Formats: sequence, structure tokens, C-alpha cells
Amino acid sequence: MEFQTLIKERHSTRKFKSQEIPEETLQEIFKAINSAPSAGNIQAVQVFAAKKPELKKQIASACFGQNFIAQAPVVLVFCANLKESERLYKERGKTLYAIQDASIAATFAWLAAVNEGLSSVWVGAFNDEELQNAIGSELQPVAVLPLGFADEKPRKTPRKSLKEIIKEI
Ligand SMILES: Cc1cc2nc3c(=O)[nH]c(=O)nc-3n(C[C@H](O)[C@H](O)[C@H](O)COP(=O)(O)O)c2cc1C
Repeated sequence: MEFQTLIKERHSTRKFKSQEIPEETLQEIFKAINSAPSAGNIQAVQVFAAKKPELKKQIASACFGQNFIAQAPVVLVFCANLKESERLYKERGKTLYAIQDASIAATFAWLAAVNEGLSSVWVGAFNDEELQNAIGSELQPVAVLPLGFADEKPRKTPRKSLKEIIKEI
């Protein structure tokens, strides 16, 4: 997909078809995740890909009952490996870089998904401990991305003016 089209097409979807995601498509998204930049190139990110219905329900429940998450055929949970980044970058690694590594990886995944004709939404509202229990990891969860074919036309959302967010100095 042409880049500007992709940027315009990407909007949050919270309704998914039950249609499976082809394995090759999923692999393209995984490759995009692995190509994301990271602090010192240490990739302090771990991604959990959930397909089992029971597990997806647990994840949705950890996200304060955002049940649309469990509808998606695949749910990605992006976690920051705070300790790995801390080893190299001390406090800054733990508080900033690992979270950024995971966020950039999630952004790449979302854009790659749209490029493959899929939709998603960034879910940031969750209970850390419940989500960690669901995925069986002590890593810091940063974002949950349900992936699937949209079963709704995504709503275009407004933005601030460029003047408000960009200050040429
Ligand atoms: C950090 C972050 C956390 C978010 N958390 C949630 C969430 O928990 N549930 C949800 O439905 N949408 C969530 N969103 C999606 C935003 O509401 C959405 O991206 C925003 O309204 C802009 O709409 P658009 O993605 O269609 O452009 C989150 C987005 C971001 C970036």
C-alpha cells in the first residue's frame, strides 16, 4: 500500500470478523516487528501472540473487560524487558528506552497489519498483574493489539491543528 494511503487508512477498529489471518500475513507482521529500531539495538521487547479463545478472553478481561479484543483472531501483547535495557542504560533504560522499544515495535506491527489489509486498535488500559498472569510473563506489558479483518468501517478521528502540536523553533 502506498505510504500516505496507509497513514490515512489506519484507524482504530473494535469490531472484527472471525476470519482467520493467513500464516504468511502474520509472518509479515512479525518481520516488521523485528525490524523496528530500538535503543542500542538490544530490542528490549517481547511479543506474545495469542490465538487460543480462552487465553484471548483472559487478556480481554485483564483489559477491564474490553471484550472486542477476544473477537480478533490474533491478539498481540507487547512487553518491555525493563531489566534488559537497565543492564546497558541503567535508570534511563528501565524507565524510558524499554517502553519506547516496545511502543515502536507495536507501531510497526499496526502499520504492517494495515498494509496487509487488517485492522487493529492500540489497547493501553489494562491491569498489569492480570495481564502478566494471562500471558505467563513478568515482563512489563505496554500495549495490546488485537489483529483481524475489520467488521466495521473505522471512524475518522479529529486531530489538533499542526500549529498546536508542532513548534518550529
Ligand atoms: C496509548 C494508547 C492507549 C489506548 N488505549 C485504548 C484502550 O484501552 N481501548 C481502546 O478502545 N482504545 C484505546 N486507544 C485507541 C485510541 O482511543 C485511538 O487511537 C484514538 O482515539 C485515535 O483514533 P484512531 O486510532 O482511529 O486514529 C489507545 C491509544 C493509545 C495510543
